Amino acid sequence: MQPSLFDIKHLSHCYADGSIALKNLSLTIKQGKKIALLGNNGAGKSTLFLHLNGILQPTSGTIRFKGKELAYDRKSLLSLRKQVGIVFQDPDSQLFSANVLQDISFGPQNLGLSKEEVLRKVEWAMEQTETATFKDKPTHFLSLGQKKRVAIAGVLAMDPEVIILDEPTAGLDSYFSKQIMNVLDHIQKQEKTIILSTHDVNLAYGWADEIIVMHDGEILCQGNPVTVFEQDEFIKKAHLDKPWVLETFQFLIQENLLSSSSTIPQTKDELFQKIRGNMKVFSNY
Ligand SMILES: Nc1ncnc2c1ncn2[C@@H]1O[C@H](COP(=O)(O)OP(=O)(O)OP(=O)(O)O)[C@@H](O)[C@H]1O
Ligand SMILES: [Mg+2]
Repeated sequence: MQPSLFDIKHLSHCYADGSIALKNLSLTIKQGKKIALLGNNGAGKSTLFLHLNGILQPTSGTIRFKGKELAYDRKSLLSLRKQVGIVFQDPDSQLFSANVLQDISFGPQNLGLSKEEVLRKVEWAMEQTETATFKDKPTHFLSLGQKKRVAIAGVLAMDPEVIILDEPTAGLDSYFSKQIMNVLDHIQKQEKTIILSTHDVNLAYGWADEIIVMHDGEILCQGNPVTVFEQDEFIKKAHLDKPWVLETFQFLIQENLLSSSSTIPQTKDELFQKIRGNMKVFSNY
């Protein structure tokens, strides 16, 4: 069994204006997984993420990271943030250096690495996010998608064990969305844990090992993508659509155009494979 990374118990968060963003939320996050957090606007996804990296503190409840309760003194936070990197929903909250290269270098420079090691990590992160072409540009002149990629590069360059990304593909075109998801896949294979939030159900369904659905400051359900998206009631409550791969598969089964099978496709290729296999069976009659 994989060890748990985060153990959250009865977490509530009330903002200064009295808004209750998290309500008695309990959740376990396992190590080495690809996790997608889904939920309607205002469900509490960003608030939850800000707790995982110690930016917000619980109003009540506890958060344990690798078995140890989070502490909020400077030293403990530095140690936590070396291990848990976060890419904010709004890149303007993340970027503050004069230009792109300085911004991406800032994190690794503060990890006490050698100059060569910093350079290696920064160059790798820029390559993965295709940001090298505008490395000397002031960050405030970048387009939204470019800012987003620079913010992602900054966290990748720090090489944390856990990477949290709040809506990483929002504002990215299809090419860069795929590129970022491929990078995250590649990184996760090196024993990292990736937790992202998204409104893109198709992306979450095809990519995640585990999906967590939030609504109104609470967890509605958690489990593998197929199990979660088969729960129509929760999906509707959280304003989610069914992923097209699953919906098409269920339609083909219902219309007897595909024989039901124990494995349910999660990707376009898996669905096409099933249709192709079925056509071969038909053509044998
Ligand atoms: N700084 C703040 N002060 C007061 N209320 C806040 C603050 N930040 C968030 N909230 C409130 O907390 C609740 C949860 O917001 P949060 O940003 O965590 O939701 P979300 O799931 O990330 O939404 P979205 O999908 O729109 O990004 C909302 O009702 C929001 O209005
Ligand atoms: Mg948010």
